[in-house]
Amino acid sequence: MTAPDWYTSGFPHIWLPYTQMKTVMPPLAVSHTHGTRIGLADGRELIDGIASWWTACHGYNHPHIRAAVSSQLDLMPHVMFGGLTHKPALRLAERLVKMLPGDLDRVFFSDSGSVAVEVALKMATQYWLNKNVRKRSTFLAFKGGYHGDTIAAMSVSDPAEGMHKLFDGLLPKHFVIDLPSDEKTIAAFDKFLKEHAGELAGIIVEPLVQGAGGMLFHGQEVLQRIRAAADRYMLLLIADEIFTGFGRTGSMFACDSAGIVPDIITLSKALTGGTMALAATVARGKIFDAFWSDDPKHALMHGPTFMANPLACAAANASLDLFDLEPRLAQAMDISEGLEAGLAPCRDIAGVKDVRVKGAIGVVELDRIDDLNALKNRFVEAGVWVRPFNNIVYLTPALTISDEDLNTLTAAIVDVLRKP
Ligand SMILES: Cc1ncc(COP(=O)(O)O)c(C=O)c1O
Repeated sequence: MTAPDWYTSGFPHIWLPYTQMKTVMPPLAVSHTHGTRIGLADGRELIDGIASWWTACHGYNHPHIRAAVSSQLDLMPHVMFGGLTHKPALRLAERLVKMLPGDLDRVFFSDSGSVAVEVALKMATQYWLNKNVRKRSTFLAFKGGYHGDTIAAMSVSDPAEGMHKLFDGLLPKHFVIDLPSDEKTIAAFDKFLKEHAGELAGIIVEPLVQGAGGMLFHGQEVLQRIRAAADRYMLLLIADEIFTGFGRTGSMFACDSAGIVPDIITLSKALTGGTMALAATVARGKIFDAFWSDDPKHALMHGPTFMANPLACAAANASLDLFDLEPRLAQAMDISEGLEAGLAPCRDIAGVKDVRVKGAIGVVELDRIDDLNALKNRFVEAGVWVRPFNNIVYLTPALTISDEDLNTLTAAIVDVLRKP
């Protein structure tokens, strides 16, 4: 099939993410999306299994979000947030604070997950500086973790795919150890804190699911243990819920189901129902209080140009309406059952190491995937959009996906993996 003109003339000028451009499998040209479908320029349609990096929680083009963005567009697409403020941002901040656990109370908006993490790290570091405590400027992070691609976010991520190593000379040094999930790792965690707690500003963790690091799950007790240790050593706990937030694990936030309140939480991805770039770093009152001062140097020195973009805030408010009006968490639990049942046959396929499901996340872990591109192509040929990475095939569909589409996705995975 011939590619459209815009593709042929524009593609030689584009630089794709995480891609060796010399050997790249040319990306598919998309002309439109709707619901859980991706429409290709050549007329084919794919059922989307990953909701655009798990952002489009209500499916694509939801009419309620479109209407909200469209009215906001007529009124005010953007205005700077320095010295000015607006209703969509303040409403959103108030609503987020109401729905977040505990006394997470102050919202700082930015425009991507990585930047939300940078802001969280800066908040935690400056918290100590403002309190006149020096030398607490490093963080404890966990193997398997991923917090983004900017410099500080990379420095608290597991050195996955060699990214960390490549930039070794550039990255600030932090500590990355195993999550305290069994006797051995708990002992190592305790020992580490005994020796190093005095150097730490805080601990950063992806609660319940480490996403991009391999869709690795851990139990609520692991988070409770980390929270208790942070309290014991007076460390700030940052929960990065950029992946897990907004129903993905079956509760609104993963911290809810573990019954813990982090000191700082980062949100993005499904915050706008996957329609626009927006992120939030939300801090507890005690963090904010450390910045409340007559000294201008105690202010938080961060301010992205497009922070709190009114269109994105309108989309996020509309997305929260949908969580209020429609049974998203129940849908996530239905998806969970569908994933369990649909992916179960994978357990009998040679080369499958593990099949696991948490909330609306389904994972098939293989011993290895020899040819990722070939596997990706076979999913497209089967009419589904599934993007395996490393040795993982996973589904994170829209929470609104129909049983029929979900069955098609899981059946495609079983079929494709069965035929070598
Ligand atoms: C847990 C987590 N933190 C941070 C990020 C980075 O977000 P962004 O890609 O918007 O910078 C991601 C992205 O996948 C993520 O899953």
